[in-house]
Amino acid sequence: MIPESAIADLRARVDLQALVSEYVKLKRSGASWKGLCPFHNEKSPSFFVHPERGFFHCFGCGASGDVFAFLIRLEGLSFPDAARRLAERVGVELPSEDPQRDAEQRRARAAMERLLAVVDAAAGFFIEQVDGHPLGPMARAAWRARGISDETARTFRLGYAPDGWDGLIDHLRQRGYAASDAEAVGLIVPRRQPEGAPRRKAEPGFYDRFRHRLMFPITDHQGRIVAFSGRLLDPPPGAPPEREPGAKYVNSPEGPLYTKGQILYGLHEGRVEIRRRGWALLCEGNFDLVALHQAGFPNAVAPMGTALTDAQGKLLRRFAERVVLLFDGDAAGHKAVRAAFDVLAKVGLDASVVNLPPGQDPDSFLRTHGAEALTAQIDAAPGIVEHLIDDAAAQGCRDASEKARAIASLGPVLAQVASPLEARLHIERIARRFSVPDIEAVRRQLRQGLREERSPASAEAPPPKPRPATERYSKVELEGLGVILDLGLWREPEARRFGELLTSADLCAIFDTASHLVEREGVEAPALLRELHGNEALPWLEGRLARPEHVDRDEGLEMLRTCIPLLQKRWVAARKQQIQDGLLAAVRAGDQARANELRMELQALLRGAAQRMGARGDDGDESSRFEDHDGA
Ligand code: UTP
Ligand code: MN
Repeated sequence: MIPESAIADLRARVDLQALVSEYVKLKRSGASWKGLCPFHNEKSPSFFVHPERGFFHCFGCGASGDVFAFLIRLEGLSFPDAARRLAERVGVELPSEDPQRDAEQRRARAAMERLLAVVDAAAGFFIEQVDGHPLGPMARAAWRARGISDETARTFRLGYAPDGWDGLIDHLRQRGYAASDAEAVGLIVPRRQPEGAPRRKAEPGFYDRFRHRLMFPITDHQGRIVAFSGRLLDPPPGAPPEREPGAKYVNSPEGPLYTKGQILYGLHEGRVEIRRRGWALLCEGNFDLVALHQAGFPNAVAPMGTALTDAQGKLLRRFAERVVLLFDGDAAGHKAVRAAFDVLAKVGLDASVVNLPPGQDPDSFLRTHGAEALTAQIDAAPGIVEHLIDDAAAQGCRDASEKARAIASLGPVLAQVASPLEARLHIERIARRFSVPDIEAVRRQLRQGLREERSPASAEAPPPKPRPATERYSKVELEGLGVILDLGLWREPEARRFGELLTSADLCAIFDTASHLVEREGVEAPALLRELHGNEALPWLEGRLARPEHVDRDEGLEMLRTCIPLLQKRWVAARKQQIQDGLLAAVRAGDQARANELRMELQALLRGAAQRMGARGDDGDESSRFEDHDGA
């Protein structure tokens, strides 16, 4: 905990205008300064900084706050990290209440600083070697051959790791860096001692990890180099033909500075633009990333040769609302989209997918078709679920069983679509793409696919934690589902309507599974519970199955009828919020087409809601209030 007084002190000492000026060009405007808002996309400045008050505000997007708020939002820092940065900036020590822990933290930080310094020195060395080593120009030739300018190479600090075994070791030793630090960050590797040989103290055995490679320094989102990715170059002229070429990339091993699943290459360079535009481009390769930045897509980032991880998704979510996936147009690229979908859905990033022609990667696409063509592709990119549907349809449509399997494979995808309206539209798309006119049959097949995916996974999953299940669900949803369950109302139109409006995934699963069982054999408690293994509402379900509360069928139906308009309103409200959020993001991103689409969806939603409620006549009062409220 940082004491309040220290925070107030920092706030007073840090010059907000100077800080903001590092990111935004500011011009004087009366008592304030104004510029283009870094938090949203705009053409004329509505972002104001008042230096004396230490406060900023944007009249376009409403972002506002003090130095802390600015750094936290723009750099994606936590509060303590922002405080530490600001303290360093003005040269003060942050006091603390626990001197011992403080000393420990200082020691740990000093050790980290040492490691960062070694890595930084290595990066400097690799840059020098481009001109300093006889083979260094091969690295420059390699980036030029990919259309990377020397200026871009400077921005990304590309370098050359010399051919040989100890170029870097010697350099670091001369400058007094500890071999143990260089080893800890994986720049040098201990030589294996021959069996039984006495260890010679004078010559600790290490060799350079990176040899004759084009070096990409990898920065974390704060701009500190934490690792290297070294790309294979052509063999040096005159190299013996038996020389092993080695892997296409040699990367730093994970260690105290670097965990590959937590780093997005390019995020530091792109963070301000990503924040401003509200979206990021996700590509795969180092060259792709550098080429995209150079071609006017500074909002590109790349995971480090791994499938997108949860940590990377969360990190990106701090800067963007939306991502556009730009993977290679090959089978691996298609698989990567599917894998990324789960992560993106989990962290709440909207995504669309650019379909590159087979055999092309973003870098080659840019070189053959240019930036404008890529922009057009991005503008036309379908949503990720649409993409996955089309992809499945393109792959598996030869016979009935292949179709069925392909549809089932989409079950887990559709299960992650939160809005019932969107889900409905997707299901209709599946029906169209696979030419299955029976929507219900499609639904059943999707559920089947979801169950198949869940059952093996849930066998490995840890047993669900006992939690008071009922607290987490809406009362209305629980009540209605309880009535249906008590009285077996599954086939009643009221029950079906009710089922469509459920928002909780757990309760939906209960409703769907039970309705499905009814069609086959009637709801038997053991079968139902088995099918729903892992469902978090299970304790509630078990209780309810054991102790029904309703016996009168007419009364039960009457109750359901009162639940439906309540759920409908909640559903519409939730969906409305979702559309409005999307609309805001689209407007910020300057995406007119998407914004219009959402506006129409919103109108349709509100029209539909008003009609349904009006037609029923059972909620007239509510419906007019509803319309008033939304007319604004
Ligand atoms: P690619 O094979 O697509 O590499 O791998 P690339 O950078 O696009 O290279 P070119 O276009 O063929 O010249 C994509 C990313 O996966 C990681 C690297 O980060 C690479 O940029 N990778 C790839 C590795 O870490 N190790 C490898 O052996 C290969
Ligand atoms: Mn490539």
